[in-house]
Amino acid sequence: MKPENRTFIISGGCSGLGLATARDLHKAGAYVSLLDLNSGAGEKIVKELGERSRFFEVDVSDTASVEKAVNGSMEWVQRTGKEVGGVIAAAGVGGAAKIFDARSESPVPISQIDFVMNINLRGTLDLIRLVVPHMVKNKPTVPDNERGVLIMVSSSAAFDGQPGQVAYAASKGAIASLTLPLARDLARHGIRAVTIAPSLFESAMTAMLPEKARKSLERVMEFPIRPGKPEEFSSLVLQSIENTMLNGTVLRLDGGMRMPSKM
Ligand SMILES: NC(=O)c1ccc[n+]([C@@H]2O[C@H](COP(=O)([O-])OP(=O)(O)OC[C@H]3O[C@@H](n4cnc5c(N)ncnc54)[C@H](O)[C@@H]3O)[C@@H](O)[C@H]2O)c1
Repeated sequence: MKPENRTFIISGGCSGLGLATARDLHKAGAYVSLLDLNSGAGEKIVKELGERSRFFEVDVSDTASVEKAVNGSMEWVQRTGKEVGGVIAAAGVGGAAKIFDARSESPVPISQIDFVMNINLRGTLDLIRLVVPHMVKNKPTVPDNERGVLIMVSSSAAFDGQPGQVAYAASKGAIASLTLPLARDLARHGIRAVTIAPSLFESAMTAMLPEKARKSLERVMEFPIRPGKPEEFSSLVLQSIENTMLNGTVLRLDGGMRMPSKM
């Protein structure tokens, strides 16, 4: 599917991987609806991108908030006549904590697990669940009867989660696991599902990474020996939109890196 003259709903679209995707999709002639907590950045980005962009302040872990943003996006779609070509669910949080903290001799608070799962997993599914009923009404493309594509963001942590990543790895592993059943559920409607699993990429999230953790990751990088760039992520999103044969799959985007157990 060509992104041009279609609308894409991008959660986490105001920073890092989501923002690079928004910029590249916009450059490719798409309309972008940015859903993010960060309203300051949202207003700025929409001003920068101009006419084919909208911002909706959203907490993806709150269904009412997601519903409001999806409805707002759909009103915009009705006005422009540019159907929703897909969702890029890039909103996410880290949140390192071991299941048992030896110093305080206490387990990780369940609220911390809920926080990560509610944003990374529930937030992704909730957004997709609310957008799909609109996408199934799209005019099918020729010759494949395609109606759109759902792109989710997993992580290397889904496969080789490090100490302290139980909740994060669980959320990203679930995203990887749900990709195939999602594609199977929606195949009859001509909607594809693709998940990208990046390793260490430059973003606001990884800028907070302690130096020790960054160094330990650099030691196990194969090639290239550097973090990925947000544009390298967004170029795979564009390819996932354009290449109809990509479906029900998890694409590792990691330069061959496997994360180590020890820092
Ligand atoms: N950067 C990496 O190295 C890396 C690696 C693997 C996976 N990922 C995943 O990629 C995705 C994007 O991460 P990033 O690195 O660009 O991080 P980032 O912090 O730069 O961007 C995340 C965006 O999500 C938004 N967000 C956070 N919580 C939200 C909520 N509850 N509701 C709405 N928006 C919310 C933030 O405001 C921010 O704009 C995440 O799912 C992350 O887990 C990142």
